[in-house]
Amino acid sequence: MGTPIRIQEIAQHVGQEVIIRGWLYARTDKGRLQFLQVRDGTGIVQAVAFKKEMTPEAFERALSVTQESSIVITGRVREDGRAPGYPGGYELGLSDLQIVQLANEYPITPKEHGIEFLMDHRHLWLRSTRQWAILRIRATIIKAIRDWLDDHGFLLVDTPLLTPAACEGTTTLFETDYFGSPAYLSQSGQLYNEATAAAFGKTYCFGPAFRAEKSKTRRHVMELWMVEPEAAYVELDECMEIEEQLISSVVATVLAVRRTELEIVERDVSKLEVITPPFPRLPYDRAVEMINDLGASEGVSIQWGEDFGSPQETLLSGQFDKPLFVHHYPTAVKAFYMAQEPDRPEVCRSVDLLAPEGFGEIIGGGERSGDPEFLERQIDTHKLPKDAYKWYLELRQYGGVPHSGFGLGIERTVTWICNLPHIREAIAFPRVLGRMYP
Ligand code: 4AD
Ligand code: MG
Repeated sequence: MGTPIRIQEIAQHVGQEVIIRGWLYARTDKGRLQFLQVRDGTGIVQAVAFKKEMTPEAFERALSVTQESSIVITGRVREDGRAPGYPGGYELGLSDLQIVQLANEYPITPKEHGIEFLMDHRHLWLRSTRQWAILRIRATIIKAIRDWLDDHGFLLVDTPLLTPAACEGTTTLFETDYFGSPAYLSQSGQLYNEATAAAFGKTYCFGPAFRAEKSKTRRHVMELWMVEPEAAYVELDECMEIEEQLISSVVATVLAVRRTELEIVERDVSKLEVITPPFPRLPYDRAVEMINDLGASEGVSIQWGEDFGSPQETLLSGQFDKPLFVHHYPTAVKAFYMAQEPDRPEVCRSVDLLAPEGFGEIIGGGERSGDPEFLERQIDTHKLPKDAYKWYLELRQYGGVPHSGFGLGIERTVTWICNLPHIREAIAFPRVLGRMYP
């Protein structure tokens, strides 16, 4: 008989007869001994089919079963230090193997496949160990973020995805039709967060955001997941403290519970172990000097007043072991809502957090302007439709307070923590320029 178990709990079943329902990942053929690597979504276990210990029919099925066939196996769990798998060190001496569906010839084989081929087969590629590890780390990152925010007094308040106006500028809007009126897919829940922060003190939204970014880079997706905390009575410095606490806690959690997955993606964990508060803070002015000093030899430069592109971010974030805060960007390059620095209005109380090792921006945020007249001018300057922001300006007339917040991009964070060469592996079904399949 046997008890159905999942592979992740196999250690608790040594000596017992168990049933595992999963798929054949790989096989090594040694004649009368078949070594089957079986996965069930929670791990991989080695199942040993020994001719002498099975009925001839069951052994025949073990011989003929193809890669990624769905199978139900029964066997006794034994400890064996040499056994590969996740978790390794356990194997199953098979007494039975039933085939649920015999898979057609599987398109993804151990040989090297091109990235376009793998992306076309993303629905199947997700089953491979590396993708499995990345998406398990992603789930842990998301849980760690939510746990930290929930434990630190931030209330989850969801914000709308169909919106009448832009949050982050009009150039990256996806437009859709709302019964005859234009509507836009949300770029960020921030403006709504500012309303909920005044209602609940500290809030966050967590959900998808859409950016029609016509850039094909290793850092951009069209559909991303963003967590956006917002807090009343919080100014720029405290905003940075919240960010560094949150990020450090997330990294510590991943290190604590996803060691195996970090090994699978070959992450140098020593680079993550140093991620503890405080993080270095660099004013934009100094960052510009630094880029021009260090970048000269590599042809990277910047003029005061310009926003950073990928080369500048890569250069800066390669200089530090910890994530780097760059704050006080020029008002003109940032979104309309950023608070001006009172005695230096050409810069604003914005802050970006750049991940180390050249990964670049993972968080954008800062302190919001409380000045309704300045905001009205900004709405004009940025050519935004005034009517759509009426409610937003009203927030400044009914109990306005200093407040700050930020948006953390999940895919960029996963890319950094897993050390991925490209953001497309950081989400199950990426939407990148030129691809919406599968
Ligand atoms: O810097 P962004 O545009 O900031 C905002 O949207 C603010 N309204 C957030 C806030 O203050 N509540 O975006 C925030 C983060 C970026 O740092 C990045 O991690 C991610 O969202 N992001 C993207 N990630 C992947 N692809 C894209 N096209 C992204 N655009 C933004
Ligand atoms: Mg940004």
